[in-house]
Amino acid sequence: MSTTFQKVAAIRGMNDILPGEGARWERFEALVRDWLQQYGYRNMRTPVLEQTRLFTRGIGEVTDIVEKEMYTFTDSLNGESLTLRPEFTAGAVRAAIEHNLIYDRPQRVYTMGQVFRHERPQRGRYRQFHQISVEALGMSGPDIDAEMIVMLARLWKLLGLNDIRLELNSLGASEERAAHRAALIEYLERHRDILDEDGLRRMYSNPLRVLDTKNPVLQEMANGAPRLFDFLGAESRAHFEGVCQRLDDAGIGYTLNPRLVRGLDYYNLTVFEWVTDRLGAQGTVCGGGRYDGLIGLLGGKPAPAVGFAIGMERLLDLWSQVVPVEVVPECQIYIVHQGEAAQRKAAGIAESLRDAGLAVIVHAGTGSFKSQFKRADGSGASVAIVLGDDELAQGTASVKYLRADALPDGEALAGQQTRIPFDMLAQALAEHLA
Ligand code: HAM
Repeated sequence: MSTTFQKVAAIRGMNDILPGEGARWERFEALVRDWLQQYGYRNMRTPVLEQTRLFTRGIGEVTDIVEKEMYTFTDSLNGESLTLRPEFTAGAVRAAIEHNLIYDRPQRVYTMGQVFRHERPQRGRYRQFHQISVEALGMSGPDIDAEMIVMLARLWKLLGLNDIRLELNSLGASEERAAHRAALIEYLERHRDILDEDGLRRMYSNPLRVLDTKNPVLQEMANGAPRLFDFLGAESRAHFEGVCQRLDDAGIGYTLNPRLVRGLDYYNLTVFEWVTDRLGAQGTVCGGGRYDGLIGLLGGKPAPAVGFAIGMERLLDLWSQVVPVEVVPECQIYIVHQGEAAQRKAAGIAESLRDAGLAVIVHAGTGSFKSQFKRADGSGASVAIVLGDDELAQGTASVKYLRADALPDGEALAGQQTRIPFDMLAQALAEHLA
């Protein structure tokens, strides 16, 4: 019986991160984890799959994400509707409620990993992408909103990025949005004849989003629309001023953007985005804001919250424009060998070197010294150890220093070859490669 196998490929918009890039991702993630720790945020991990109603309720029925971007399917075992997480916030809040995390004290948490949105792929816009999502649960003041923004400014500085600008707005409280909404619907009704299909559909369900249009015909109409900011009461204004004052204290510049509404329905009061011109059309590297209603909406005891998420692909793209991508060596030491006895000895020596904290690759299989040395060179190792009949007979290894850069006395050693007794190898090399 013959079967033909149809070639398989990655799903469009879902990228492989290959070994060279993987090292850069790890470096980036390590830096990010240190940064988060400096502000007291602790890691949590939630499932990739959640019940669909978490997102329809949490993110909002009339949002692009819920209307057309979710990967939703029915669990064939029990008929339940499940969705691959399109963001982290709803899941983090669900977990916090389910495990009583904010029962008696506030929590600073972060999640990092893949999220899924069925969007049209292009540079900076993928169907599987990564977010760092940071949530401060149970804190209500403008101090924490501002701290989050200051914290992001520190990250840009740590990464050496200075082409990211901050856009800021306030969405007020729900009654203020309701009053504005009524005024806005009235305004949109007066301009009904120029609205496009999306606009007409959203006019009553989500009129704010009608203003967030790319359609040039509608932009002038949008510019003249009643502004939410004018409907904010004293308390909302005071909160917003509190955020602005603290940003001024920290010397962080921002642009007030009254049209900034964000694409998820759970926000109130402060909303913000960090945007760059260096990434083409998808220039928003981070977005967030306050979501004081979400915990209550998802069945928890109402508590305030604020957070943001960074798009990791976008930030890494920007970072590699500024900081050159360095080649990370596969190991520090590469062991080449000739003959079965030497190969077996190599495995033992490698373990003793790893005991001393060194990173070692033993050439797998066999091959001429020449071809093995070529692999050793390609691996980026600083040192090659050579084991052949002569070395085994004498109980010493030939050690060849390949690269100057990773060695303290590198200039003198590079290209040199010496013999070191087996039992002194680990100590000698650990000193050289420390
Ligand atoms: P968001 O604005 O939908 O917010 O996404 C946050 C960031 O994820 C965006 O600023 C962007 O950098 C990145 N991003 C979004 N879509 C894509 C895509 N298709 N491909 C690549 N990157 C993308 C949220 O998700 C909220 N949960 C943020 C938040 C956390 N608010 C409060 N806490």
